Amino acid sequence: MLARPRRNRASPAVRALVRETTLSTSHLVLPLFVQDGEQSETPIPSMPGHARLGIERLVARARAAHALGIQAVALFPALADAAKDPRATQSVNPEGLLQRAVRALKRAIPGLLVITDVAMDPYSSHGHDGVVHGGRVVNDDTLPILAAMAVAQARAGADVVAPSDMMDGRIRAVREALDAAGFSDVGICSYCVKYASAFYGPFRAALDSAPRPDADIPADKTTYQMDPANIREALREVALDEAEGADWLMVKPGLPYLDVVGAVRAATTLPVAAYHVSGEYAMLKAAAERGWLDFDRALLESLLSFRRAGADIIFTYGAIEAARLLSAK
Ligand code: PBG
Repeated sequence: MLARPRRNRASPAVRALVRETTLSTSHLVLPLFVQDGEQSETPIPSMPGHARLGIERLVARARAAHALGIQAVALFPALADAAKDPRATQSVNPEGLLQRAVRALKRAIPGLLVITDVAMDPYSSHGHDGVVHGGRVVNDDTLPILAAMAVAQARAGADVVAPSDMMDGRIRAVREALDAAGFSDVGICSYCVKYASAFYGPFRAALDSAPRPDADIPADKTTYQMDPANIREALREVALDEAEGADWLMVKPGLPYLDVVGAVRAATTLPVAAYHVSGEYAMLKAAAERGWLDFDRALLESLLSFRRAGADIIFTYGAIEAARLLSAK
């Protein structure tokens, strides 16, 4: 036998020398949920370790994350039903929950990159990411709402805005609105290739943001989020978002779509992000709670797999745990 691949696996030293992919804390983005009541904290049962946090607690959590080497957080607001309406009006309120949270974070931790989600669903009474008319989610009427939301977030101090709605043309609408308002330095992380996925369940429970179907409200997001069967269509989205001025391109969810991450990586020179979504995190936690797998090892293996597939940036609810594990290595 001339070739023995095991020679390159024989010791920690040789394994370190031939390792093809690395994972470091600097690649990770920590998603956080914010709610009213400065000191409040409401655990999210399907996402152990995560809670909806009042602004003071949010700042404390972000400070701890930053001290561990995490460079960025992604914020999601949980609004009371009374604050929701069909046109997501609260999303542009300068005194709205998200805007206050961004200001508090940038004041307390100026070096932390703050990423905000641009989509109507946390603010809309029907739970959709766009305006609903006559039983349909209407694309073009949604664009000015998204653009105004992005500008409100930039004005509060967001470094990067992240449209996650999957309306056509929204990257361009957001880019033009940001530039016109004087925010040409604010970046856009496009949720470019976002699938209509069952893996968002715990997130929607955390924000109570799932669609609320009735006769005039569609039951799901399949007319705007992508069909999980498609990958050529992902490359079409990549081409459009590049042309419309996106700075980063995201694929979401993560592990079931690593082939898509690889294809997007090959198709663009832009940074590629992948979102290890709430359901993926919940699966690891649930199995570990039953003693069925080792959470720490399964988490690091999952995150490394994103890197191997070609992701530069990984959004993960396990960012703090991963940062601790990586610093202990
Ligand atoms: C909403 C949004 C969703 C997520 C991020 N932004 C849910 C959805 O599209 O319904 C999901 C994140 C996760 O599951 O971790 N625009």
